[in-house]
Parts: sequence; structure tokens; C-alpha cells
Amino acid sequence: MKRILVTGGAGFLGSHLCERLLKDNNEVLRLDNFYTGRKENIKHLMSSHNFELIRHDACFPLYVEVDQIYNLACPASPVHYQHDPVQTTKTSVHGAINMLGLAKRLKARILQASTSEVYGDPEIHPQPESYWGKVNPIGLRSCYDEGKRCAETLFFDYRRQYGLQIKVLRIFNTYGPRMHTNDGRVVSNFIVQAIRGQDLTIYGDGQQTRSFCYVDDLISAMIRMMESDPEVTGPINVGNPQETTMLTLANQIIKLTGSKSKVIFKPLPSDDPKQRQPDINMARAELGWEPTIPLETGLLKTIAYFNQT
Ligand SMILES: NC(=O)c1ccc[n+]([C@@H]2O[C@H](COP(=O)([O-])OP(=O)(O)OC[C@H]3O[C@@H](n4cnc5c(N)ncnc54)[C@H](O)[C@@H]3O)[C@@H](O)[C@H]2O)c1
Repeated sequence: MKRILVTGGAGFLGSHLCERLLKDNNEVLRLDNFYTGRKENIKHLMSSHNFELIRHDACFPLYVEVDQIYNLACPASPVHYQHDPVQTTKTSVHGAINMLGLAKRLKARILQASTSEVYGDPEIHPQPESYWGKVNPIGLRSCYDEGKRCAETLFFDYRRQYGLQIKVLRIFNTYGPRMHTNDGRVVSNFIVQAIRGQDLTIYGDGQQTRSFCYVDDLISAMIRMMESDPEVTGPINVGNPQETTMLTLANQIIKLTGSKSKVIFKPLPSDDPKQRQPDINMARAELGWEPTIPLETGLLKTIAYFNQT
């Protein structure tokens, strides 16, 4: 049995990760300051004697004994990370320093939940890991994008300087049950609007594309990455390479929910990427992983969740 620390464990991805790690018979310490995380996300796990909850801000050092660390603490949606941008950068950078320091002391493996946002508004599609990105360093999204880029730098410097066993995953859009209701992420936005019979808001002309990975696929990738050979450090892209335009997604959600909602258009916010698609060849080769859950299946499970809440 391994002792595993999950920072950001009460969030959307963190709660699914804790659930899977417990199912695999590990002892799980879940750290969260509840900035965007919710107790409801993990209340079904609280009765497990292998599950422990630590209310703590990752910006401050932590002393616990564990074998592995999954570093997920960070608000992930623009609404939340732009609410307190200084705190967002602090969480990414100080949080990474604190967790890397802990991993160094314990000689523990550590995985960073990085993001496709490190590519900024990319000039090439799909984005391979070798592409260094096109990021605005002073824009509204920079607190998140540059914070995550700096965290990656720290991970690789800790490896070069101290020989740490690091794992860096660049996560592309992921969706599923326990996403926040109103955090501006497109899948949850559209589903909630459709269920409430409100118009679905598209920013721009709806021709911008995104690719969406169902949460269960993503969690499998995270665990495979953590358990991979020590020389596999990443960064490795994980996501679903199948692209969908925002207009197609909106219409699909209206159909699947049986809603009478219409689609309305609003101006595109600044720095919004026109296209975002992962090149997952490295994940296929190094992790033997690729997503298996079709968009319609994942959307139906997510709609069922939002229908209950
Ligand atoms: N969901 C996605 O599509 C996606 C894509 C790319 C990267 N990621 C990364 O995955 C991680 C999890 O994302 P998510 O979608 O679950 O977001 P989320 O907002 O649901 O979860 C983030 C969690 O971190 C916690 N947190 C924030 N600041 C903290 C701090 N200072 N100390 C302790 N806890 C703190 C929050 O309370 C929350 O529980 C994030 O690091 C995010 O950048 C997610």
C-alpha cells in the first residue's frame, strides 16, 4: 500500500483521482484550501479509513510522510484564476516549490498537473511537446499560463539539480461530473444553460475548436504517468485529439439534453486561443495511453450529473 498526497484533492480532477487511488488500495492524503474545491466532491470518500483530509494552503510548506505526490492545487478555470491573479501565480509557483521541497526530502515521486495553456495561442496545430508556445506574459491569462510555465521550469530544475523523480503532464480540456456549475468552462456552461432552458452563449463565431477528454480517461493517464519508468519525465500531452467546434458542441448538448434553448453569440475575450488540439503521440508511445470514451458517452454522464445537482 502506498501513501499518496493529492494537492487540490477536493477539486474536479482531484476528487476523481482520489477516488481511483483509493479504489486501487492506496492510502490517500488529500490537501486542499477549498478555494474552488468542495466537500461534496469527496464526501462519498470520507468514510474510508484510508482517506485523510488536510485543510492547507499549498503556498505554505507541508510536512507529511508520503511515497508519491500529485500536485493539482490551482484554480483551473479563467473565472476562478482571474479572480485573484496574484494568488494564482503564488499557488502555481510557491505551491510547486513547497511540493518539490517535500518530494526532495522524502525522495518521493512527484507529478505536476500542467496545462495546454503553456502553449498560449499556438501557431501550430496540433501542438507537440517540443513546441515552446506563444504566451502573452502580461495579459489577463498570464497569471495561470506563466505560473504553470514557471512550475514546469522548477520541476525540471529540481530534477537536474537534485535528481528528483518528476513527471509532468500537460492536460488539455477535460470534462465530466463534478465540474463547477458556473466557472466559464464551455462544457459545464453549455450543459447548465441547456438544462435551465437558457440560451447557450458562444464567444466569437463558434468556429474556434477545442478537444475534450472525459475525466476517467485523464485519470488513467495520470496514474500511468506516475507509475512509468523513472526516465519518463514528460512533459507529455494528455487529452483527446478529436476536435469539435463550439457551435457543433452547443448543438450536440441541446440535442442530448432535449432542451429548447437557442445559441447566442457574444464577443471573443482577449487571448482566447482559436484552436487547441493535443498531439498525443508521446502519450501513446511512452504511456501506452489514449482516450477511449467517445464525446457523446462522456457528455451523457456529465448531463446526468448536472441533472441531479
Ligand atoms: N480540468 C481541466 O481541464 C484541466 C486542464 C489543464 C490543467 N488542469 C490542471 O489540473 C489541476 C486541477 O484542475 P481542476 O479542473 O480539478 O480544477 P479545480 O479548480 O476544480 O481544482 C483545483 C483544486 O485546487 C485547490 N486549490 C487552489 N489553490 C490552492 C492552494 N493554494 N492550496 C491548496 N489547494 C488549492 C482548489 O480548492 C481545488 O480543490 C489544476 O492544477 C489545473 O491547472 C486542469
